[in-house]
Amino acid sequence: MTTCSLTFPPQINLASLPTPMQPLRRLSKKLGVELYIKRDDLTGAALSGNKIRKLEFVLADALAQKSDTVITCGGAHSNHCRATAIAAAMLGLKCRLLLRTPDPSNPPPAEGNILLDRMAGAEIVWITADDYKKRDELMAHEAAALQESGRKPYTIPEGASTALGALGYVRATEELVNDITNTMGGAHQPCTVISAAGSGGTSAGLILGAKIFDMNVRIVSINVCDDHDYFIREIGTICENAIADYHLDIDFDRYRDIEIIDGYVGRGYTLSQPEELMLLKEVAQTEGIFLDPVYTGKAFYGMVEELKRDPKCFGERIIFIHTGGIFGLFQMADELEPHL
Ligand SMILES: Cc1ncc(COP(=O)(O)O)c(C=O)c1O
Repeated sequence: MTTCSLTFPPQINLASLPTPMQPLRRLSKKLGVELYIKRDDLTGAALSGNKIRKLEFVLADALAQKSDTVITCGGAHSNHCRATAIAAAMLGLKCRLLLRTPDPSNPPPAEGNILLDRMAGAEIVWITADDYKKRDELMAHEAAALQESGRKPYTIPEGASTALGALGYVRATEELVNDITNTMGGAHQPCTVISAAGSGGTSAGLILGAKIFDMNVRIVSINVCDDHDYFIREIGTICENAIADYHLDIDFDRYRDIEIIDGYVGRGYTLSQPEELMLLKEVAQTEGIFLDPVYTGKAFYGMVEELKRDPKCFGERIIFIHTGGIFGLFQMADELEPHL
């Protein structure tokens, strides 16, 4: 199956894998394509979503380094921070989160992911958006302070979107090979795999995995923040680092191999528009699937809009990766209510 050999570094099992891939029959009919959804929202309950695949590798490294505390960062309602806090609790590690909020002296209430972070025992340091620009520096500062006090910190960059973290999605493409074989009648059936890009690690892993496992797939990322050039840079760097770190014998060109569909950030990161919220409701009502407003909802909306423009723009078959984020729905209750 492989054209290139990769010896995976140690990994710990934290996610419920493999996740199912399911046909979306009614939406397929409406959109005029064969549409499947890869249920990475089912990697766990509180631990659900894409981040846990990356953390299986990253936290194995933290344990190998005998760390006792993990430090990471994200927006106030970060899914990555919530997954890190819970995984740390499962492994007996402490967790310190640097969370972004407009006014650190008046932090948001313990709802959604923040509630889960706090229940899992994470120490939260609230920082402003301006400070967040210096997040790596601030995390290094926290790590130094912890070290001073006798702890052994391990720092995880935003979204665990590193070469090591991206291996979680290389592993996921291995699952996709089986999913495609089982549902489409052959591992080499052409299809397009679509996912949301937030920090780029998921897309990087999918792009690398598609090459490593010689798949006949087009990998498309729809950005939910920043822009096309930012993601070519971020995903390109993660892929190139992984190729160097794991000696991957693959042909990769960031300008050729990364496909970003820009134009669906809408009102901005974490901000929703009525048409996006109405689509969340439609998907829930027609397929019983709950997308989240920040990532999967925007990417799904982008995919549907592109299909309206040209029903064959992604070919005959699409796999949408549901990367999780369910807890982000609850803080949107007031905005969703008028559409129900
Ligand atoms: C639910 C969800 N989907 C998608 C993404 C994007 O993944 P990545 O950060 O690997 O680009 C994230 C995180 O950023 C997320 O929390």
